Amino acid sequence: MFTWLKSVFSVFGSKPAIIRGAGKLEEGFAKKIIFGDPLAGQGVEVILCRVEGRLEALDARCPHEDGQIIEGPLHEGRYAICPLHNFWFDPKNGDVVNSACKRAKTYKVREADGDCEIWL
Ligand code: FES
Repeated sequence: MFTWLKSVFSVFGSKPAIIRGAGKLEEGFAKKIIFGDPLAGQGVEVILCRVEGRLEALDARCPHEDGQIIEGPLHEGRYAICPLHNFWFDPKNGDVVNSACKRAKTYKVREADGDCEIWL
């Protein structure tokens, strides 16, 4: 199959994962969601955050030194935290806001009817 055709199929063929009840996540909080079995190398851990009323999603793996971005209250109600070196990440774009570091990986999220869809 041609490379460009594979790309088209991967865009239209990718289905989002659905997180039931995600709409209940409170403003300024983060919740860890586990897909598959990350310990076996076959899954991913996502930090779902509510900031300014919107759901945002970060990969839980910190891009600094493989720490873990944690669930719970967001710093100043808006930044996800990796406690290993206390870096703060903006869930909207993955930028680290209090140090120099690569961006955290983000995922596209769409909220509807109390649930949310996430494209991993
Ligand atoms: S490993 Fe996350 S801040 Fe250093």
